[in-house]
Amino acid sequence: MKKINVAIDGTSSSGKSTMAKALAKSVGYTYIDTGAMYRSVALFCLREGLIADGKVDSERLNAMLPAINISFKIEDGKQITYLNGENVENEIRGLEVSNNVSLVAAIAEVRHAMVRLQQQMGKDKGVVMDGRDIGTVVLPDAEIKLYVSTSPEIRAQRRFDEMRAKGDTSVTLDDIIANVKMRDHIDMTRAESPLRKADDAVEVDSGQFSTAEEQIAWAVNFFNDYMEKEGK
Ligand code: DC
Repeated sequence: MKKINVAIDGTSSSGKSTMAKALAKSVGYTYIDTGAMYRSVALFCLREGLIADGKVDSERLNAMLPAINISFKIEDGKQITYLNGENVENEIRGLEVSNNVSLVAAIAEVRHAMVRLQQQMGKDKGVVMDGRDIGTVVLPDAEIKLYVSTSPEIRAQRRFDEMRAKGDTSVTLDDIIANVKMRDHIDMTRAESPLRKADDAVEVDSGQFSTAEEQIAWAVNFFNDYMEKEGK
């Protein structure tokens, strides 16, 4: 069977990563979480003291970019992100990284370096890649392009429930709504490849699904229908 690429873009906490991960597993493709790559660069910046007063020292960061090595490994069936050989999977999901990552992801040189890496990962097909610019910039030739979103309130509630389920009570729902809206704004208004739906992407309102399983089943069906129709 011929392999294709699947590009999944959309706003944060729209359920696109859960959907992309499960779709990849279900069809035997490689899942690539490009948000984890930007999160790793943001963590690197925080550790190196490159972020102060809501600004990134992009000159120093650009000089250090070649020293940032990001890779993924599958452990116990889960994708783990490594930054310069260190497992940073948990740390990159914390609020400090979440609050700073959009700033880092807006820097042109950072994006160029990440896009190069992502295109390399997708060149042999058979990937499900999720992010913000996958259908528009990284894999413009992807056979399937989905754009997933829903209201900031529904998305914030989703993240809030996830954090509470992990026992994290450090933030309120209002904090998360503010974080989600701030990130949308930065992602959609940045000069360098802003978040937008590719003209040929299929729009998916994730608010229509009452569970993650429903959303995943929808994506797997969509993929199977496409493959059948195209005879792949
Ligand atoms: O998907 P996520 O929430 O883990 O993404 C983290 C941040 O990285 C988010 O602010 C948007 C940014 N990002 C991006 O600009 N381009 C991508 N392809 C993926 C993520």
